[in-house]
Amino acid sequence: MAFGPLWDDKLSMDGYGVFMTSDSITRLTFRRPDDWHVHLRDGAVLTGVVPYTARQFGRAIVMPNLPDPISTVDAARAYRDRIVAAVPEGLNFTPLMTAYLTDGTDPDEVARGAAEGVFTAAKLYPAHATTGSAHGVTEVANIRSVLERMEVIGLPLLVHGEVTDTGVDIFDREAVFIEQVLAPLVRDLPGLKVVFEHITTAEAAAFVTGSGPNVAATITPQHLHINRNAMFAGGIRPHMYCLPVAKREKHRQALRKAATSGSPKFFLGTDSAPHAVGAKEAACGCAGIFNAPFALESYVTVFEEEGALDKFEGFASLHGSAFYGLPVNEATVTLEKNVILVPAQIDANGTPIVPFHAGEELGWRYLG
Ligand code: DOR
Ligand code: ZN
Repeated sequence: MAFGPLWDDKLSMDGYGVFMTSDSITRLTFRRPDDWHVHLRDGAVLTGVVPYTARQFGRAIVMPNLPDPISTVDAARAYRDRIVAAVPEGLNFTPLMTAYLTDGTDPDEVARGAAEGVFTAAKLYPAHATTGSAHGVTEVANIRSVLERMEVIGLPLLVHGEVTDTGVDIFDREAVFIEQVLAPLVRDLPGLKVVFEHITTAEAAAFVTGSGPNVAATITPQHLHINRNAMFAGGIRPHMYCLPVAKREKHRQALRKAATSGSPKFFLGTDSAPHAVGAKEAACGCAGIFNAPFALESYVTVFEEEGALDKFEGFASLHGSAFYGLPVNEATVTLEKNVILVPAQIDANGTPIVPFHAGEELGWRYLG
């Protein structure tokens, strides 16, 4: 990515560029990005939400936490086919599948899925940590042989990093997980590639920064935009609730610093997690924020606010593929400075969902 004046020839050597007027950047053209963490669900909703992700991203790491978790190669292959069938004509989008790890996962099944090009990674949900994690892992020791095999074959482990002990304050569960689970895991299996997913704390950002090159992290748009006050602004705000839950302002600031630092250890992962309005606005509302429709517009706003537009392409389009050992996308996309209004609600093939930034204006428009 390079800079060049709007009215002049592109100055960038490779055809990409950030285009500037004398005092502000008006267009950003960069390699097509990828979403390294997304929930696409299944059935009718899948058909409703896939187009949003496929429109903005070349590839996406698809979470396996369906009601019947994706834990076998056959299930992942069939799910991948259903996703591909929901991609609108003319969009070039590749879903990358993940294996849902359980206490009983067979290392051979994971290795076979990797060898056959079905599994791009495997996901560790501590049991009962979040939505769709009831079949998750009760003790990391129970999947030790799977992790050792993944270390050997180079299959990344994606981690939902929260302890599940309800005696631990919900705002501390990520930091405690680092101490109790992640640090020992990284120490014992130094060759294992680990993505600390959707980090929410200064402690997580520091842990990733201080670890070797096999440890990276994804960061969501919501954790860059909101702190925990957003959930309680004038009343309870279920559409601001996700897991791990947003933390204090100092943590949001640390995440913004990490995302815009240019470090290849941090990359884009929306954690877009659609739930029907009624499942969010309920006595016990579901965790998850649906940010896919305006994901790039949301992220780029943060990079602009931080004066780091030159770091956006790395975060969105380069660091993730480098970590996963995949080629970067050849195509480019463009964002233009322009006001857009995010709708209050989106109809996802019959399911009403409130998107992140509902009713707000954003200062960028995605042109494709
Ligand atoms: O907020 C979340 N929603 N966090 C997760 O870890 C899961 C996700 C979902 O599947 O809804
Ligand atoms: Zn997730």
